[in-house]
Amino acid sequence: MTPITPAQLDWDEQGRPHSRVFDDVYFSDKSGLEETRYVFLEQNRLQERFAALPVGGRLVIGETGFGTGLNFLCAWQLFEQQAVAGAHLHFVSVEKYPLSHADLQRALALWPELQPFAEQLLAQYIAIHQGFQRLVLDNGRVTLTLLIGDVLEQLPQLDAQIDAWFLDGFAPAKNPEMWTAELFAQLARLAAPGSTISTFTSTGWVRRLINAAGFKMKRTPGIGHKWEILRGEFLGWPSQAPAPPPAKPWFSRPPALDGERHAMVIGGGLAGCATAASLAARGWRVSLLERHAALAQEASGNPQGVLYLKLSAHGTALSQLILSGFGHTRRLLEHLHRGLDWEGCGVLQLAFDAKEAERQAQLAEAFAPELLHLLDRDQAQRQAGIELAHGGLFFPEGGWVHPPALCQWQATHPLINVLTHHHAVELQRVDQQWQAHDGDTLLASASVVVLAGAAEIRQFPASRELPLKRIRGQITRLAQTPASEALTTVVCAEGYVAPARLGEHTLGASFDFKNDDLTPTAAEHAGNLTMLREISEDLLHRLGAETLAPEHMEGRAAFRCTSPDYLPIVGPLADFTAFNQAYAVLGKDARQVPDTPCPWLPGLYINTGHGSRGLITAPLCGELLAAWLNDEPLPVPASVAEACHPNRFALRTLIRGKAPAR
Ligand SMILES: Cc1cc2nc3c(=O)[nH]c(=O)nc-3n(C[C@H](O)[C@H](O)[C@H](O)COP(=O)(O)OP(=O)(O)OC[C@H]3O[C@@H](n4cnc5c(N)ncnc54)[C@H](O)[C@@H]3O)c2cc1C
Ligand SMILES: C[S@@+](CC[C@H](N)C(=O)[O-])C[C@H]1O[C@@H](n2cnc3c(N)ncnc32)[C@H](O)[C@@H]1O
Repeated sequence: MTPITPAQLDWDEQGRPHSRVFDDVYFSDKSGLEETRYVFLEQNRLQERFAALPVGGRLVIGETGFGTGLNFLCAWQLFEQQAVAGAHLHFVSVEKYPLSHADLQRALALWPELQPFAEQLLAQYIAIHQGFQRLVLDNGRVTLTLLIGDVLEQLPQLDAQIDAWFLDGFAPAKNPEMWTAELFAQLARLAAPGSTISTFTSTGWVRRLINAAGFKMKRTPGIGHKWEILRGEFLGWPSQAPAPPPAKPWFSRPPALDGERHAMVIGGGLAGCATAASLAARGWRVSLLERHAALAQEASGNPQGVLYLKLSAHGTALSQLILSGFGHTRRLLEHLHRGLDWEGCGVLQLAFDAKEAERQAQLAEAFAPELLHLLDRDQAQRQAGIELAHGGLFFPEGGWVHPPALCQWQATHPLINVLTHHHAVELQRVDQQWQAHDGDTLLASASVVVLAGAAEIRQFPASRELPLKRIRGQITRLAQTPASEALTTVVCAEGYVAPARLGEHTLGASFDFKNDDLTPTAAEHAGNLTMLREISEDLLHRLGAETLAPEHMEGRAAFRCTSPDYLPIVGPLADFTAFNQAYAVLGKDARQVPDTPCPWLPGLYINTGHGSRGLITAPLCGELLAAWLNDEPLPVPASVAEACHPNRFALRTLIRGKAPAR
């Protein structure tokens, strides 16, 4: 993997950006605004299409080349002027060389009339790293998904239906890579029926290549010094080209459900609250059921959790999910109170042995320094404010979070009805509705149910076969001392310790695969202290922790919920027995893709298995679940969504020939 490099810009005398790599301008030197509106908004008839959207309707725009975001902001402004409240705009854009925050700010300052939109974009233009980065704007009315990387690597990973394409990848002569047959085949693969397309160029070979991909392009008068431009529409996949392979039925999108958009979410931790928030932002009414007296009382109830990124230099599905999830959570935190609900103090992962040092060196080669960089021991000590035995890898945008604050913030949407003291003991489907019962009491019913109760979801027959494990973990709370105030960043080795919140440091966390009891134990406090000693003897002394008796320490324990492949479980679920029957042939030949439709459990969805990193994965998985339910662009690559799919276990069991006979 090669790290993403930011755009290299020069600025002309009028303050306009110019790309050094491509020797080209980001927008017209006459009037960027006028040109954008004419070439992209008008040619795609966006004014009338936005105005025609019904409540709950949406339009999806795709773009090659996000650049300064000018096209995006103009489309957003028009959407704001034309679309009814309750309509949504999705904008998906690919960018290989993202502008730095400072450059973006400088470029957008050129357009005072876009300022209200630019400000919102800039406030969320944080932690933009490689892969899929989702930005939720205007309380979810506008969703921006940036695909950071080369267009030919990113677009094949996108699962979306694009209604209007903006082709804006510098002039074809200066950047032929953005105008290839391979790219246009991707545009066709992703085009919704009736999709439109436009571009500022009228170059003949570009027009012929786009036509060959299944679009019908027309020349139309240009604007400014552009004599002609191109507009067109998608006619259909060309008959002479081999059709793209059909989606595997077990990972395909379940049919949409009719009736009121009302979901019952069971579980009020990070996964349930994120799901509720993502659905409510799309106009769903949500009943959020939690068995305790308040939200976030179990795994999501620790005073501090760490935004800890365990990445791989090899771009695994988990690593991609972590990087996308980190960016998303980090952007959400901007809505919370810094210092009380979270702190962006950075996270230092110590290179505590040779193997870890080697792993860190590989990561430093694979990722940009803005995400992570190596610090030697002296630098690490200066960064952390305490003495350390090692250097390590520093994540400047990381930090700690008070998870209950994130849960509460997500559950405040007026469409979410939080039902505490509601323990869903039984689930039944009656008359197209899921009903949750506690004994004879009907707690709630809705056409859609999302199971977000961590490992407890195995209590329901529908999800009993999911291979979830509980792993007990305990944190220790340590009172801040004048000497421990020096700690300025989260420091991790096998465990972690955070700068104090409300006068207390959180020290975590033990792993116990056997213990089912949640009473904190002295042995685990002692274990956490050993991890603290490994992090920093100096900090141990500053906290006076060597004299503390573990029996008198305070803390709390909860269960993490993990899956065998350590990926979360997110999406729709099939009926296990019917699945085994429908796809039994895979037991003999795993390469077959039968065209039997997947026997979905209608309206039943899962969001669980967030293991030790729910702060990073659960919020984005709320977006993923909402995308499944609303047939929207997925916020992660298709391969990552499949790696997290609830059907993956039934599929693997079938392929390995171990499906239980029933
Ligand atoms: C000790 C410890 C330290 C951790 N440290 C970190 C960290 O530093 N960084 C990080 O990112 N992650 C950390 N994690 C992991 C993170 O806390 C979890 O991944 C995350 O909280 C999982 O959220 P969840 O919503 O899936 O589960 P939970 O928070 O457990 O929520 C599930 C909820 O569902 C409710 N529920 C279950 N069944 C029902 C039912 N039938 N009816 C009604 N309600 C029901 C439960 O009461 C519970 O509130 C840590 C976990 C532990 C235990
Ligand atoms: C003309 S600019 C886009 C202007 C932009 N739409 C705006 O509103 O400001 C072209 C963009 O395409 C990006 N780009 C060029 N080659 C690319 C590639 N191979 N993959 C992805 N992005 C690329 C450039 O970095 C640049 O930001």
